Formats: sequence, C-alpha cells, structure tokens
Amino acid sequence: MEQIKPRKKFVKNPIIGTKFTIAVSSAKGGVGKSTFATNLALALKKNGCKIGLLDADIYGPSLPKLFSIKEKPKSEEGKLIPVNKYDIQCMSIGFLTEEQTPMIWRGPMVTSAIKTFTQKVSWKNLDFIIVDMPPGTGDTQLTFSQEISLDGIIIISTPQEIALQDVKRGIRMFDKLGTRIIGLVDNMSHFIGDDGKKYDIFGSGGVEKTAKEFNKEFLGNIPIDPEVGKYGDLGKPIVESETEHKISKIYLRLAEKIKRIYF
Ligand SMILES: Nc1ncnc2c1ncn2[C@@H]1O[C@H](COP(=O)(O)OP(=O)(O)O)[C@@H](O)[C@H]1O
Ligand SMILES: [Mg+2]
Repeated sequence: MEQIKPRKKFVKNPIIGTKFTIAVSSAKGGVGKSTFATNLALALKKNGCKIGLLDADIYGPSLPKLFSIKEKPKSEEGKLIPVNKYDIQCMSIGFLTEEQTPMIWRGPMVTSAIKTFTQKVSWKNLDFIIVDMPPGTGDTQLTFSQEISLDGIIIISTPQEIALQDVKRGIRMFDKLGTRIIGLVDNMSHFIGDDGKKYDIFGSGGVEKTAKEFNKEFLGNIPIDPEVGKYGDLGKPIVESETEHKISKIYLRLAEKIKRIYF
C-alpha cells in the first residue's frame, strides 16, 4: 500500500501552537472515539511528543470524565489557557459548563465554539493536537475540514455492519473535502474470554475490508477489554494507568507509527 505522507500544511487556518493536528473520527457514536483519542494522546506523549487534546464533541464532551478534570481553564489576554493533565494540554466545552447541563445549541453556535477552541486557545509548543470529534458528518466535521487545517484523520469503527455503513459515508465526505485519512482502526474487534476463546462480538474483519475497499491503510485491531472501560471511568485511561497492559502496548505501537509518519 502507498506510504502515507502528510500533506504540507498551511492551506487553511492552522491551529497556532502545534506542528500537526490529527482528528479522531467515526460516523457513529459509541464506537470508542474518545477512548481512542485519549489513549492515543497519552501514547504519543510516552513516545516523547508534546501533545494537546481537544474535545470537539460540543454536545457530549467526554474529556472532563476520561481525564478526571474538574478545574475551569483560566484566560489570559482574551485566550483560554488549556488545562494541563498527565502532561497534556487539554480543552473541552465540558470544562466551561456544568456536568449535568445539556448543550442545546444550534449549528452556528457549534461552529463558533469550534473556532474559539482552535483560534482562541493558547496551545503552546505542541507536536500534535489530537481532536476528539463528535459522531456524524455534521457542522463540526465540516468546520474542521473546510476552515481549519487538519493534517490527518483516523477513523474508528467497530466491525459491525451498521457502524461500517456510516464509516463509508464518513470516508466519502473526508475524501471529498480533501482531508487526509491516515487510516482505519477496528476498535472492540473481538473479545478473548477467560477460556482463552476468541469471540467476535460485532462480527469480524469488516473494518479491514472497508479500508481495502477505499484504498486506505488499516491501522489495526483493538480488542474489547473491560479494563479499558474501567480506567476510562476512573479518569485515568489505560495507557496512563497500566502502560504495560497489552492494550496499552497496541496504543504505544500505533503512536510510534503515527509519529514516524509526521517526523
Ligand atoms: N477496546 C475497548 N474495550 C472495552 N471497552 C471499550 C473499548 N473501547 C471503548 N470502550 C467503551 O465503549 C464505550 C464508548 O466509548 P467512547 O470512547 O465514549 O465512544 P465514542 O466517543 O465513540 O462515543 C465506553 O464505555 C468505553 O469505555
Ligand atoms: Mg466521544
């Protein structure tokens, strides 16, 4: 397969303060984007990169919970200062609202929130900003693809047909908008039981097949492991909590690969 080379940037508005911006996307909710984005960010950090994490899910922010962040960002000279946690510069709409408040915003307000987060945050000296996208092919994806320079997108899916259908829609959209797709990840690909047997809970092989069909790179499988959810709920994702865990090792290898693509 063709080696991915990052498109030289600065076509659209780049985010100031980072060399590269990579979004984690899927067309469907609940497939593990936020889990993936947080663990990938931590794995890149462990690979020696300086990382920012931008939670762009305005309606359903996950970062406050996944990183157990309760403090509000300060502002300085009209810019928000990211909250530092696990040595990662973090920003989320959830830092600015109460946990229980539902976000009832119209499209233009979402667009304006995204612009604030990409232009009015003082991100500093970063190698990568990892953007955790909301599900769908809506305003956030459009704003990012058309107005902000994204250096790459990683698409997450489960191997289920219903998720893959939406993934294909997502691939077509990003291709059309000229946003580079780094590759596809099969999350919750299978489960290994205590009996050592492999269970294909959501079917198997569908994500890899879709990658081939669209001539994209397949970046690998991440199995279902209850520890992943446990550490997410504890506010300290598995890569940070248990760096030696087999799931963490998958993330560390993937981070190494992504680092090599860009540096
Ligand atoms: N590999 C995995 N193994 C076990 N649970 C996972 C895995 N990936 C994600 N999850 C769980 O799936 C749920 C949805 O994940 P989340 O990251 O919030 O998805 P999304 O951001 O796509 O909506 C969470 O409860 C999370 O802990
Ligand atoms: Mg999410």
